[in-house]
Amino acid sequence: MDLILFGPPGAGKGTQAQRLIDILEIPQISTGDLMRAERKSGSALGKEFDEFMSKGLLVPDELVLRLFQQRLDQEDAKKGAIFDGYPRTVPQAESLDGVLAERDRKVDVVVSIEVGLDEMIERIVHRRSCEACGQIYHLRYNPPPRADACSCDGKLVQRKDDTEEVVRKRYDEYLQKTAPIVDHYKKKDVVKAVDGVGTLDEVTDRIKQAIGGVS
Ligand code: AP5
Ligand code: MG
Repeated sequence: MDLILFGPPGAGKGTQAQRLIDILEIPQISTGDLMRAERKSGSALGKEFDEFMSKGLLVPDELVLRLFQQRLDQEDAKKGAIFDGYPRTVPQAESLDGVLAERDRKVDVVVSIEVGLDEMIERIVHRRSCEACGQIYHLRYNPPPRADACSCDGKLVQRKDDTEEVVRKRYDEYLQKTAPIVDHYKKKDVVKAVDGVGTLDEVTDRIKQAIGGVS
């Protein structure tokens, strides 16, 4: 199955993707995570990504496409994947459709996770992620076992772009450039809207229900 987890910043795409990996037995491909890893490596490409990410702007399509395609062609993604944070623009969606078609695949379902702006900000400013394993926590809603450490003992860090000011910019980018993707996929009749407010389990159950019957 090829599944897009769609939604604004803080909707819970990464959180739900981490849960769906085991349920669907396909990997998560998060362009945001791939870019943060590149940035951490200190490469020239990583520095280019940082120019945009730190300001809450989308990284230009041409820089994203190769990164995405290299990941898609890894062995574990040959039978399907959970796309988290990709596509982010209509040209990226058109490119994804083409890249999948070349591999006799298609986007089977787009799960659109819906939350309001105040909830997004509350979630993002209190998010912490594990530097070692990538596990996502929220200081109140999904607290880590210890204040500064993950269950794997990795150090918990706050993302550089997780300030209210940058989240508002990311949301503007989402409304302008990313939200139109829904219409692109509505024409293909693959969009399922899911209420993103509730416990983590409740949202996972809603997603499972939304994709039930999609093979
Ligand atoms: P990216 O990393 O994709 O960030 P984003 O889309 O802004 O989304 P987030 O990761 O902030 O939120 P999420 O939906 O994953 O929520 P999460 O599960 O963590 O992109 C970052 C940047 O990279 C972009 O701004 C851009 O510059 C660049 N980029 C990436 N991909 C790109 C592309 N394709 N093209 C161009 N540029 C690209 O949850 C958030 C918090 O809420 C957590 O603390 C979590 O514990 C909590 N939470 C989750 N679910 C619940 C719940 N049900 N109830 C309460 N709390 C919850
Ligand atoms: Mg994420």
